[in-house]
Amino acid sequence: MSDQVRIVEVGPRDGLQNEKTPVSVEDRIAFVKALVGAGLHTVEVGSFVSPKAIPKMMGSDQVFLGVRDLPGEFHVLVPNEKGYEGAKAVGAKVIAVFASASEGFSRANINCSVAESIERFKPVIERARADGIRVRGYVSCVLGCPYDGDVAPQAVVDVSKTLFDLGCYEVSLGDTIGVGTPSKARQMLRAVAGSVPMPKLAMHFHDTYGQALANLYAGMEEGCRVVDSAAGGLGGCPYAPGATGNVGTEDVVYMLEGMGIATGVDMNKLIAATNTISALIGRPPVSRVASALNAK
Ligand code: HMG
Ligand code: MG
Repeated sequence: MSDQVRIVEVGPRDGLQNEKTPVSVEDRIAFVKALVGAGLHTVEVGSFVSPKAIPKMMGSDQVFLGVRDLPGEFHVLVPNEKGYEGAKAVGAKVIAVFASASEGFSRANINCSVAESIERFKPVIERARADGIRVRGYVSCVLGCPYDGDVAPQAVVDVSKTLFDLGCYEVSLGDTIGVGTPSKARQMLRAVAGSVPMPKLAMHFHDTYGQALANLYAGMEEGCRVVDSAAGGLGGCPYAPGATGNVGTEDVVYMLEGMGIATGVDMNKLIAATNTISALIGRPPVSRVASALNAK
């Protein structure tokens, strides 16, 4: 597996949206700058969602404006046309819509059924395409739902294919509550790759049960080459009780470099970025590599 893997750093959005301590706009901008300086050039920096639903992401417009001229690609989450207008107004070039493979999570997260969410995304994707804005699609709960339990791979296939057919350039498969194991992750990816080409799929695995790296490796064996991760393993999910953060970027980088896959990430700079944000939120990073290197 000596080829390239693209890392999508989601710490400033997926991570910080669910930390107890809010982080100011200035500190979020500094965090993104530090991540870019460490060599992470695709960063999800915020979301244009209801501030009542996700107060920690307030000011995402300012964060975006503060980083948009850095060398990189900066993504923002958009749940509906109102969010789209906000993202467009600040000049976003890439947005992400987010659907779920399970009904329970869809209701809790965005207050509508899966089918209704797709209807909501249609005009967003159409407008984005007309405006030259690229759209990434997320599918949550691909390996289990905190409300509905097991999720059939076919449900994941159906939503992924719908998002891809609507025009998403990439579909990111979210193990929102980190319950997957390698064989299940492999089976799910194989099923989805039957309907959406593997190069258009990304793995977005939370690490609640400590399986994320193993699941990523299994997915890489299947041919998937895009990995979402969060510096320090920040975060969780506000609508997935007990869920912890995404797989830590340090852990992903360490594994890839150890496999001979160059990431272009400077580990020392990444750890420095992680330590700074960890000090701001008042807890040590949970990623294993950050803990190990900090103990040296
Ligand atoms: P709703 O209550 O059904 O929507 O929420 P609404 O249209 O009736 O609006 C309610 C209020 O929200 C109104 O304000 C709207 O103006 C406002 P009020 O009149 O009450 O003052 N509003 C907005 N404000 C700012 N920006 C907007 C916006 N839209 C409406 N775009 C809604 C539906 C989708 C808006 C809401 O449920 C929401 O914002 N949810 C966000 C959920 C979220 O961000 N979850 C975390 C991200 S998803 C995730 O983490 C999973 C992922 O990482 C993958 C994985 O791990 O699986 C991506
Ligand atoms: Mg997530």
